[in-house]
Amino acid sequence: MEFTYYGHASFAVKAGGKNILFDPFISHNELAKQIDINKIPADYILLSHGHGDHVADGISIAQRTGAKVVCNFEIHEWLNNKGIANTHPMNTGGKWNFDFGTVKCFVAQHSSGLPDGSYGGNPMGFVISADNGTFYYSGDTALTFDMQLVPRYAKLDFAVLPIGDNFTMGMDDAVEAAKWIQCKKIIGVHYDTFGYIKIDHKKAIDTFKKEGIELMLVDIGKTIQV
Ligand code: NI
Ligand code: MN
Repeated sequence: MEFTYYGHASFAVKAGGKNILFDPFISHNELAKQIDINKIPADYILLSHGHGDHVADGISIAQRTGAKVVCNFEIHEWLNNKGIANTHPMNTGGKWNFDFGTVKCFVAQHSSGLPDGSYGGNPMGFVISADNGTFYYSGDTALTFDMQLVPRYAKLDFAVLPIGDNFTMGMDDAVEAAKWIQCKKIIGVHYDTFGYIKIDHKKAIDTFKKEGIELMLVDIGKTIQV
């Protein structure tokens, strides 16, 4: 699958011929200054939870592209109130067939308040299955035993996990998560953006390598085949 990193926990995957954009937080990210959000294509925008560092550019990109926003029920209502009508509400445990493939929502252990103080519902992770591949994006989360459910539903080609610690799993817990989801190809996100989550890249890659797992740290703006 084609994977493009936009910094922090924002990325896009081409699944089933559609551009799926996740957790757009780009224009406020000092490290992603070179990215023009007006050029990012999106057929769908998936939001894992309500925090500003995951939804900040969601409204403007949804307005420009007309992309369908897939998120939890509370964020769906919040978006509808802000004039974004093309939304699809889901919640943990739920699965839906879209025209690019299926989305199944998993538990994430985190919080989800929206930037204006509105209640943001529960945070989620997603398993996306399309004809060209299957992957898991955990969203912001602690290591949680619920991850052991993921391989019961999906054989993953790769997974996108936070590794920055402080607000989410750090690299050691993310290695454990990779084992629990039975995936040996991990793309790290949610690191370096703020002082609290700056990491040593080599240490992170080596920590995974010791357990026979590949950690990819993709340059911001770069597209890879995974
Ligand atoms: Ni968060
Ligand atoms: Mn976050």
